[in-house]
Amino acid sequence: MQHSNKCGYWHTAAILVTLVVSLVAIFLGLFTQPEDIMSLKALFAGGTVYRNIVWYTKGMKEFTRGGYETAARNFNDEDLDVDISNLSYMITGSNSGLGKCTALELAKRGATVHMVCRNETRGLKAKDEVINESGNEKVHLHLLDLSKPRDIVKFARDFVSSEKQLDVLVNNAGCMIHEYKLDENELETNFATNTLGTYILTTELLPSLSRSSSAQVVTVSSGGMYTEKLDPYDLNLAARQDKFDGTFAYGQNKRQQVVMSRLWAVKYPNIHFSSMHPGWAATVAVQTSMPDFSAKMGDKLRTPEQGADTITWLCIAARNLKLPSGLFFQDRTAVSEHLPLARSHSSDVEEATLMERLEQLKSKFLPSEDQPTEQLKLKSAF
Ligand SMILES: *[C@@H]1O[C@H](CO)[C@@H](O)[C@H](O)[C@H]1NC(C)=O
Ligand SMILES: *[C@@H]1O[C@H](CO)[C@@H](O)[C@H](O)[C@H]1NC(C)=O
Ligand SMILES: *[C@@H]1O[C@H](CO)[C@@H](O)[C@H](O)[C@H]1NC(C)=O
Repeated sequence: MQHSNKCGYWHTAAILVTLVVSLVAIFLGLFTQPEDIMSLKALFAGGTVYRNIVWYTKGMKEFTRGGYETAARNFNDEDLDVDISNLSYMITGSNSGLGKCTALELAKRGATVHMVCRNETRGLKAKDEVINESGNEKVHLHLLDLSKPRDIVKFARDFVSSEKQLDVLVNNAGCMIHEYKLDENELETNFATNTLGTYILTTELLPSLSRSSSAQVVTVSSGGMYTEKLDPYDLNLAARQDKFDGTFAYGQNKRQQVVMSRLWAVKYPNIHFSSMHPGWAATVAVQTSMPDFSAKMGDKLRTPEQGADTITWLCIAARNLKLPSGLFFQDRTAVSEHLPLARSHSSDVEEATLMERLEQLKSKFLPSEDQPTEQLKLKSAF
């Protein structure tokens, strides 16, 4: 018995070694220039070598423009034959890139669109362009900075008390900041915007969403989340502040969003939740936050419209196709949240910890009459 176990062990090890060697070979084959090899170093920072190799190999095949075009051969445009003219959508970060593409597409189809943007000048310009290009006047601008928890609570509560219709919330706003900065609330900026902001906006808008007979929340994550395993114990990334890596922070936040979306689906069965990743698209955000990546990829990057396709599809077709709630999508298809053999699964305890800490952090920013009683307050959220 012992002998055959040993054989089994070596057999598995041999397969793994072969797999890794083949992946390295495939991966190196993607590069032609010597300086590309140098970028290996950058690629390996912040995660395991294995995950990064598999991620990059998968990405080059699937997350690029070519990957989109291959996937699009199987798209069924009848999925989008839904009258959404009576529906109301809210899209955060919609003054450019994927958010703006989504706003425009929904406006063209006659929906009411609430654009939530941080900058008034850019927001007004984008709103005018969406109205102009869609010919739809039911487009509204709201100013909000998703890194400011108190502002989000106020905005959401005002929206709820206005009794305006809201059928679909699209959590698209995000940032990738490369320096470690704590804001006036002692929150790290990437986490405050991408995770806590999304958590507070969504949970505070539940009363509005619950009034809709077909409420939906679509959260725009990123393929970068594949390289990270959820770490709910250092949300503010205090332990990483000295060698801070914005790409890592972003990947963690995007992983957190996918877990949040899946757990919300269980907690709120009357609302349909989905998360997705857009692949690698040429947006202003990608150009400014990852200039080297952006330059290297060049025209391999998807257009913003291609990146936004699955967001729009979820916004429209999910109601038609009766997709299960809580799934993660790539190119109109539910996909795994993990790369093969990547050991990025989190435990129930880790996932519950994330949600508890977010709720506890949120409670600090509620008006004083809504603060939890002392007994309900946990220890430090970090
Ligand atoms: C949209 O609302 C109008 C007015 O309430 C109603 O007459 C119409 O049937 C609705 N259309 C759809 C597709 O629900
Ligand atoms: C808003 O956007 C405009 C136009 O891009 C820019 O000039 C301005 O500095 C921005 N304002 C803030 C507060 O970021
Ligand atoms: C959109 O803007 C262009 C250029 O400013 C203008 O000529 C056109 O009439 C506008 N279209 C609509 C529908 O407002």
